[in-house]
Amino acid sequence: MSQLAIALLLSLGAFYSAIIAPLKILGVALSQSVFLPLDLFVSGLFVFDFFYHRNKISPSQKVMSIISAFPVELLFLFSSTPKALALFSVVRLYRFFSAYRVLVANRIEGRFYKLYFILLGVVSAIHFIACSWMALNSTSYLKSLYWTITTLTTTGYGDITPTTDAGRLFTIFVMVMGFSAFGIIVGNVSNLLMAKNRHSEAKKERLEDLAMFMRHYEVPRKLQIEIFSFYDHQIKKRLSDNDGQIISDLPLALRKEVSVYMKIKLIREIPIFKGLSRSCLNMIAKSLEQVSFTAEETIIEVGDQAEEMYIIDHGEVAISDEAGNYLATLKQGQCFGEIALLKEVLRTARVQAINYCDAYCFKKEDFITIGQLYPELEKNLKKVMEQRLDPKKAA
Ligand code: CMP
Repeated sequence: MSQLAIALLLSLGAFYSAIIAPLKILGVALSQSVFLPLDLFVSGLFVFDFFYHRNKISPSQKVMSIISAFPVELLFLFSSTPKALALFSVVRLYRFFSAYRVLVANRIEGRFYKLYFILLGVVSAIHFIACSWMALNSTSYLKSLYWTITTLTTTGYGDITPTTDAGRLFTIFVMVMGFSAFGIIVGNVSNLLMAKNRHSEAKKERLEDLAMFMRHYEVPRKLQIEIFSFYDHQIKKRLSDNDGQIISDLPLALRKEVSVYMKIKLIREIPIFKGLSRSCLNMIAKSLEQVSFTAEETIIEVGDQAEEMYIIDHGEVAISDEAGNYLATLKQGQCFGEIALLKEVLRTARVQAINYCDAYCFKKEDFITIGQLYPELEKNLKKVMEQRLDPKKAA
């Protein structure tokens, strides 16, 4: 089971407990035939999580995990004081932290998950307060829910007011909580939503500057299109314009290590690297070097010694034979220069950049070492080569 699935199941288990626990404390009659199996399923899930992650958590987290995994519902069957026992299920709210911890430990991060946890937390808190108001005023759940939401988000409409001192104290507490928590939640949620906009705004600004620059210097239309296509590509493949700057303060060794992961993210979508193991991709990423070619530059000449192969990251190259006859055009994601390396012969064709090209250079020594360790890489490349050498046979 994936870590993401475990985290989501744990969070739903904790959410279920957050909804059920106050109802049990209030003594609301819940159908045993429906809720007992659900309760047992949630307990089972928490027990599974404890055994699955027991070596990755601290002793205090272990204690909390054991307590919150305890199948309380079985005791309800035999106990005459279920309300007191229901307090036990409140401990299960701790599982929200377990779920979040699983996500963080596995680097499953993103705005969506944060918003998801905020939503579960807010709904649980509202339900808790509504149940408390219900207990204090012996009123219906719907009325309590209405009172909770109006008191938390405004200061209430005054149509439902506390009649006892306990009720007044509770109302003050909810009002204070409402305006402080509301501010924090609204701030956090808008920050999370703005995080993406910050990058896209910066990108938009950059493209606008570029357009103005090209208008000012009357850059020819064909070149403008090429420059825009290059920037568009640069922008799409990076998190932000200053990817390099973000890590520029790191010591060289760490920077090198991080840049391997940046490269993996870029190369794992390339067809010849698809389906390769993580360790193989890691080695490839470490060995690839970025190179660029200007329009019409000859990259490979027929009969040359082969020292490397290339993978196109952006741009196009034309392949032609010794007599100058056109053979093919290769684009982003395709590779060239593999035939001479795989067959150990001299270059079989001429490769010329059609426009500005960004490519990854895969050196012969690395190609041989990694190819020997991971035959699947050689298999992928051989497939490409066979198709080129004999398109009919490969089809
Ligand atoms: P290599 O012979 O090492 O150098 C020239 C490269 O051009 C060659 O490897 C192939 O990658 C590529 N190439 C040769 N013939 C074709 C073809 N018919 N279609 C596409 N690419 C080719």
